[in-house]
Amino acid sequence: MSILSGKNILLGITAGIAAYKTASLVRLFIKAGANVKVVMTPASKDFITPLTLSTLSKNPVYSSFTNEDDDNAMWNNHVELGLWADLFIIAPATANTMSKMVNGTCDNLLLATYLSAKCPVYFAPAMDLDMYKHQSTINSFEKLNAFGNVMIPATSGELASGLVGEGRMAEPEDIVSFIENDVLDKLPLRGKKVLITAGPTYEAIDPVRFIGNHSSGTMGFEIAKAAANLGAEVTLVSGPSSQVVTHSLINVIRVKSAQEMYDEVHKYFASVDIAILSAAVADYRPKNVADQKIKKKETTFTIELEKTKDILKSLGAIKKLQFLVGFALETNNELEHAKGKLESKNLDLIVLNSLNDKGAGFGGSTNKVTFITASHEIIAHELKSKAEVAKDLMQQILKQTDA
Ligand code: CTP
Repeated sequence: MSILSGKNILLGITAGIAAYKTASLVRLFIKAGANVKVVMTPASKDFITPLTLSTLSKNPVYSSFTNEDDDNAMWNNHVELGLWADLFIIAPATANTMSKMVNGTCDNLLLATYLSAKCPVYFAPAMDLDMYKHQSTINSFEKLNAFGNVMIPATSGELASGLVGEGRMAEPEDIVSFIENDVLDKLPLRGKKVLITAGPTYEAIDPVRFIGNHSSGTMGFEIAKAAANLGAEVTLVSGPSSQVVTHSLINVIRVKSAQEMYDEVHKYFASVDIAILSAAVADYRPKNVADQKIKKKETTFTIELEKTKDILKSLGAIKKLQFLVGFALETNNELEHAKGKLESKNLDLIVLNSLNDKGAGFGGSTNKVTFITASHEIIAHELKSKAEVAKDLMQQILKQTDA
């Protein structure tokens, strides 16, 4: 999955011949899972039609302050467009438009949107080689960079004029990978490694039976997605769960028993920065696992159980610089029990679920959590979707680790 998946991308097209390549650019953004809207300068419509771009982007294309084709002329709100965008990409960016961007000129919808946008702005210049080298163009590049806009440099090659040199707009594939890398590089957990456990564990009784629990794994999978979306390289060790995730930054390792989870977690723990153990690990397992299916004989049947290893506690005992997060599912004296686990397992943060709260804990798609930090700060959250809880948790970790 691309880091651009789910992002709102506003593509600004100005009047250069490279505008014809923006059809491919829109398709690539859509393929990456982004939502795309297009704003064009009026002159750029000579190079590519709004119809092509609206068909590919599945959205109306904007090029003037009012929708002139409509009898009930509608105001195209540049502020709304600017606020909608997570990323604004101006490609191709002509010398004329860049000069206007530098000076705050605002004589078309694209420029008004540029001035209103609060999101990161990228610009991919395209022009003839002498224009590209002109001092006024270089001044524009420098000023736009100083504004915090990011330049996607032009490449060298044959130009529309027939001359050969610098000034060709970067190819659409290269623009997309440039933006993906730039977005990734700026994420707060870029370069950090996060280990997460999820789901239940199954403890074998015999070849066909096991002791398990109702954990669906949803919370752990959502945490993995939230961490990866912040740029972290995630190792997700999951017990049996029907959850699936495809993300280039998430490596899923499937296990069954508490012992297998323990072994996998210990393979990775030394090299991670953050470990979040959300799995509902069985506390006990059958002491002896039958080789053959157990036949029914007596009216009662007893299985002797032994304790599994507490994975979280074992990490707390050996942790060095790792930030360690545990979960606690409680039914009574919740805060007290959770604080006890925070101390005894040497955690930096514990996430408390109370089974007394409706919509919290196993199974469902929501959760209601309270964070307790190592310094016993208590942060209570409302009932939210597990995806939102995962985002809150990652923000709390960022706050505590200054990442
Ligand atoms: N945990 C673990 N390994 C175990 C048991 C629990 O890593 N064998 C982790 C869970 O992933 C969770 C935390 O420990 O992050 C709390 O688990 P919980 O079962 O609530 O607490 P316990 O310490 O097992 O205490 P109790 O069951 O008595 O409440």
